[in-house]
Order: sequence, then structure tokens, then C-alpha cells
Amino acid sequence: MTGDTPRKGIVLAGGTGSRLFPITNGVSKQLMPIYDKPMVYYPISVLMLAGIREIAIITTPQDQDQFRRALGDGSQWGVSFTYIVQDRPEGLAQAYILAEAFLDGSPSCMVLGDNIFFGHGLPELLERACARETGGTVFGYRVADPERYGVVAMDAEGRVTQIIEKPEKPPSPFAVTGLYFLDGTAPARAAKVTPSARGELEITSLLEMYLADGALTVERMGRGYAWLDTGTHGSLLDAGNFVRTLQSRQGLQTGCLEEIAYEKGWIDRARLEELAEAMAKNDYGRYLKTLLRD
Ligand code: TTP
Repeated sequence: MTGDTPRKGIVLAGGTGSRLFPITNGVSKQLMPIYDKPMVYYPISVLMLAGIREIAIITTPQDQDQFRRALGDGSQWGVSFTYIVQDRPEGLAQAYILAEAFLDGSPSCMVLGDNIFFGHGLPELLERACARETGGTVFGYRVADPERYGVVAMDAEGRVTQIIEKPEKPPSPFAVTGLYFLDGTAPARAAKVTPSARGELEITSLLEMYLADGALTVERMGRGYAWLDTGTHGSLLDAGNFVRTLQSRQGLQTGCLEEIAYEKGWIDRARLEELAEAMAKNDYGRYLKTLLRD
């Protein structure tokens, strides 16, 4: 793998969202509002902050049209979206098999469509992971209920010793977040993953392969970061309130794709003006207008 191959992005936004029934009976979870924007904006913003412009959006067959309506082809934000269908939610590692042709040997960054990250230094954390061209990088985040997640254990030097899916007795309090930087070997490795007892191609099994080759780095995402859950009725509302509180206090947006595209120089002033004008009647549009003034 050479540095010439740009890293590509994957947003995994399929699944059933069954914990959010009945609201997800008709609409994909990842299109639910988190205060003022669809949930999927936040994971897309992470990829854009990492400098990634070629992005695959994986959805269920029935939700793809709505994602297309909500996100378009990405050109309005200076990026390009490729839509891929996952017929059934057969596990996170399956995303790499589905995206094999799209990735075409490139290293990737996959983010789960319902994961929201916020924290000082996030762009630098992403840059460091992007710079590692071989192997994989994942992030360990301390949680109160690690048994619900993939859990990573590390030795005193921070080297990964074990990675285990939903353990009854967690070997550490560090959950693996839904953000995975893997090299170009991910699709070939994912093809070797066999379904778990619950019938899924587990991302943990794929990460174990990297670990066995001594090619897995885990970075701690410290207490200064928020990694929000959006999977239940209460946590969905909490995440929206978190974003609202933060944005109204700071007067700054989080997960604002127009702003990131403009800051990166991927769209020009005229385009930003156009995007702002279309939302001129609300705070989101007014915020975009302030970017034109500053
Ligand atoms: P989950 O939270 O495990 O599942 P879910 O979103 O379907 O929700 P629920 O448990 O309420 O039924 O999935 C995490 C994320 O990964 C979420 O964004 C959906 C996505 N996903 C897929 O796109 N395909 C899959 O095969 C799986 C397992 C998850």
C-alpha cells in the first residue's frame, strides 16, 4: 500500500433499528433527527474531517431511496457518495465484502451510521489514524456497561492483548467505538470471517485477524470526548439535547457538513451562499450565513 491511494470512507447505515420501534417502522434510524440534522450527518462529518471525499453509504434495500433524497450524490458538499445495499443485517464485517469493488484495494475508514463523536482534538486523532497505511486502528472508549459492546483489553504499554464481543465478564472497561480504520486487506480478510452464534459476520472477528498479525492499534479516546448512543428512545432524545445544548452555548455547529466542506476548500463561497439561502428561514441557514461573514 502506498501513500498515493486515498483512503475511502464507508458509512454503515443499514440494520433494523428494532430498539427504536415504532418510530423506525417507516423510517431508517440513521435518518432520525439529532436535534437539527439527520443522524447520518454526524458520522459523515467524521469522515469529512478525516479528509475523506469518496464515501460509500450502505443501507437496507427499502431505505436507499430516502438516503438518496436526504444526501444526494454528495457534490453539494464537495464529496462523492456511492450507494450500496445490504440485503439483510448480517454483521458489520459484511460491509467490507459489500464495499470491495468500491474500495478497490484502498485503505478505508468505516463509521457506523448511528455513532456520534464529539471532542477537542478529534481532527488530529483522525489524522493520526489516517496516516497509518498498513494494519488497523480502532478506538477504545471507557463505558459503564462494557458487556454491551466489543471490548478491548490492553497491557501497560497500551498494546492490545484481547478483543472480545459482548463478554459476560469484560476484561476491561474499554468498548470499541464504531469507527474503524483498516488497510486494503480488509475485504479479503472479511471474506474469511465465519458467522457467529448469532449469525453475524462480527467486526470483532475481523479485528482479531489484524491482532493475530500484530497489525492492530487501539487508540484511547479519552474522557474529553463524547461518544453518544442513539439506539434507544431515551438516548436518541439525550443525544439531540446534547447537540442543542452545545450548539446554543457555543454558537458553533457540530456535524455541519456545509461548514466542513467550506473550511476544507471543497466548495466555494457561491455554493455555500446557495446552500444557506435554501435554509434561510431557520437557525441552520442563518449559521451558514455567518460563515460567509467571518
Ligand atoms: P445495532 O445497533 O447493532 O443494530 P440496529 O441499528 O439494527 O438496532 P437494533 O439493535 O435496535 O435493532 O447496529 C449498529 C449500527 O450498525 C447501526 O447503525 C446499524 C448498523 N448495522 C448495519 O448496517 N448492518 C448490520 O448488519 C448490522 C448488524 C448493523
